[in-house]
Amino acid sequence: LPDAWATKSLIHQKILITTGATYEAIDPVRGITNISSGQMGVALARACRRAGAQVFLVYGKIQTALPIGMAHYECAESALAMYEAVFRLKNQIDGFISVAAVADYRVANTAAHKLKKDGTGQPPTIELTENPDILQSVAQSESAPFCVGFAAESENVLAYARAKRAKKGVPLLVANDVSIAMGKTTNQVILLDDFAETMLPEMSKDDVANAIVARMAELMNQHVQ
Ligand code: CTP
Ligand code: CA
Repeated sequence: LPDAWATKSLIHQKILITTGATYEAIDPVRGITNISSGQMGVALARACRRAGAQVFLVYGKIQTALPIGMAHYECAESALAMYEAVFRLKNQIDGFISVAAVADYRVANTAAHKLKKDGTGQPPTIELTENPDILQSVAQSESAPFCVGFAAESENVLAYARAKRAKKGVPLLVANDVSIAMGKTTNQVILLDDFAETMLPEMSKDDVANAIVARMAELMNQHVQ
């Protein structure tokens, strides 16, 4: 039997992580974003490094320092830019952790110049169009890397998470209640995979990251119990 470290190690593995919030432009100075800080992705990047992996980090808007020692850093602010970056890197990687809070919609009528009030008191119309689902596209692509998804929910956490894991076809899904995690330094998650649904205690984001990476490594090394 392999020893515990070998089972939980990501040595020689290349892991791509997306993190932070995307930013969808309305005009050159305004846009739509969300309150994700990127902290969980940065914690996961460090945990993957500690497990021996080479880490490729693609980030949107983040409110935390970038981790040192990554193999690749790339800023991709919009969902489309993030999609392009991920698919360019996809064939080099063994695992993909999609933590980024990707906007479900982008602005269809982005203005080339700063919007001006037209004086009538009538607000402008912002048209939205759906963004591609980066995680689902990667998970369902040919020779897909091992994919880890996140499900931030504000109600029915377990039911929505099960449905999301099945729909996207990801082997490991991390579910959390947004009211517990957002803006805090701790997190409380449930890990859902083919073998178990494991509720972890509330811990620091670093400890949560270590637990996610340990499970990911077990599943990638197929030493699951
Ligand atoms: N995700 C993605 N690309 C998108 C939307 C989401 O890669 N356009 C990824 C996220 O990084 C996360 C997972 O999909 O790992 C789930 O995101 P979430 O917003 O919880 O789920 P959605 O499928 O967008 O469903 P909904 O927002 O309706 O709950
Ligand atoms: Ca969404």
